[in-house]
This record gives sequence, structure tokens and C-alpha cells, in this order.
Amino acid sequence: MRLPWPLPALLTWVLAWGVALALQRTPLAGGWALLLGTGVGVLCALAGTTAWRRLWMAAGFPLSVAAVLVAGGGGSALSPWLWLVMAACVLLVYPLGAWKDAPLFPTPPDALADLTHTAPLPALRTDGRPPQVLDAGCGLGDGLIALRQAYLHADLHGTEHSRLLAALARLRLARRQVSARLRVGDLWAQAWADFDVVYLFQRPETMPRAAAKAGAELAPGAWLISLEFAVPDDDAQAAGLALIAAPGQAAPSAQAYRTGDSATSLRRPWVYRKQPG
Ligand SMILES: C[S@@+](CC[C@H](N)C(=O)[O-])C[C@H]1O[C@@H](n2cnc3c(N)ncnc32)[C@H](O)[C@@H]1O
Repeated sequence: MRLPWPLPALLTWVLAWGVALALQRTPLAGGWALLLGTGVGVLCALAGTTAWRRLWMAAGFPLSVAAVLVAGGGGSALSPWLWLVMAACVLLVYPLGAWKDAPLFPTPPDALADLTHTAPLPALRTDGRPPQVLDAGCGLGDGLIALRQAYLHADLHGTEHSRLLAALARLRLARRQVSARLRVGDLWAQAWADFDVVYLFQRPETMPRAAAKAGAELAPGAWLISLEFAVPDDDAQAAGLALIAAPGQAAPSAQAYRTGDSATSLRRPWVYRKQPG
């Protein structure tokens, strides 16, 4: 059974703290307890499904111990002010509006390399402009970097709820010379009508709403691409989306849905279909 994220991380941290606290009453109190707690975290992290998740799971215990030690000047409890500052930092990175969708997990560098073939785009649209591609919830910009590999000629756009993440994404994209227009805002409030591709790396719960928005707003022949999470069949059908490519064995991989295409859902790994015309 696979637990929904971030439950594996929370359980790992609770277990690591439990082991370290239980050892405080034994001859292994102190450094050994911290070492064994960290070891428990590292062991649990081996079950993480991506490198980022493994890192979060393994690093959570030692980082929280360090925070407690720094704040307490070597061992006493955290001051309420420090908790407030930490909570403010979390809110800066994740404003409340973003909590319903996904927290920050970046698209792995090569995860979208196949999109060139799976969800091909014309060199120019009928209005003479390059294809328009949106990363809805663009985080630190990793999805845009991966999209640029697949769509060299497209205009890239990113929308991100968190001001801090959007500012960091701007810096990272500039350093990598990836041109993209970023805006701070809610991905649900933004109109999708002008986009040829909307890319999402959110949560399973987000997908029915995203499918309905794509079906209502995207032009026929446009693409909704989701990394890792599928649109439930019924929602895809209701929105008029056809599954053109489903993920292979490697995780995470992208699913490509097309608007206004055949209503048949092709539930076979990496089935390619050419755009009409
Ligand atoms: C899993 S991360 C993916 C980041 C990026 N798309 C990538 O693939 O590397 C999801 C991002 O969506 C943002 N997000 C969540 N809900 C949002 C919303 N309603 N509007 C805009 N951004 C949102 C989060 O802040 C987070 O940065």
C-alpha cells in the first residue's frame, strides 16, 4: 500500500523522534540517540518514491534537532517566537491558497523529454504566433526548464501562488537562459483559452477540476499534460479529453490529454497519435 504524500515523511520524522527520545533513558542517550534516530530516518527514506521525497524524509529529523538545539542554546525548548518566525516562513513559501493543491516538488530534469513526440506542437499557430505553453503552479521553475527541452520554439509562461517561489524561479530561469513569462497568481483564476499546452504537476485531487477547466477553456487540439497524476476516466470523458499517452514504467512520467479529440481513452503505455492536419 502506498501512503499519500506527505504522510510517509511525517511518519518517518515521528518514528525518528520516538527512537531518539526513547533512547534518552538508556546508556545510548545523547549523541548515539541522535545518530540512531537519523539512521531510522535514512532507512525509512529508502522507501521514498522520488529523490526529493527521500531527501525530505531523511533530512527532517536531523534538521529539526538542529533547529531545537540552535533555538534553545543547546537543549531547551523552542521559543514561541521562533515557532512564529518558522510559521511565517512556511506561509511565505506556501500561501494558504496553494495548500489545496501541491506543495513544492520539482519536475525531474528529463521527465518531459518525450513530449516533443507525444504532444507535438506546430512551429507557428494559425495566428502566426509561436505555441503558448503554461506551467500552472510553476514552483522554482523546474517544469519550465523541462518544458523548454521539449518545446524549443514555444513561448513559455508560468503561474505561481507563492511570491517567494516565483522570485526564485525568475533567478533560476535567468541563470539557465530559459526565457519564460512568470506571474504571481492563482492558477484557477487564470484563463487558459490562449494556451496550446497546460502543464500541471499537482496532486491527484487536483485533476478532476483541472480536466473540467481544460475542457471548458482550451481550444480543440490543445493539450493538458500532467506529471504523475492521471485524470479519472469519467472526468476526462465529461471534459471531452482524450488520453493520448499514458505513463510507462518509470515514475514519475507524464500523461498527455488532448481536447476535442476522439473520446476513446487509449490506456496503453506511450501510445502516440499525430495531430490532425
Ligand atoms: C509540485 S510543485 C510543481 C512545481 C513545478 N510545476 C515543477 O513541476 O517543477 C506545485 C507548485 O504549485 C504551486 N501551487 C499550488 N496551488 C497553486 C495555485 N492555486 N495557484 C498557483 N500555484 C499553485 C505550489 O506553490 C507549488 O510551487
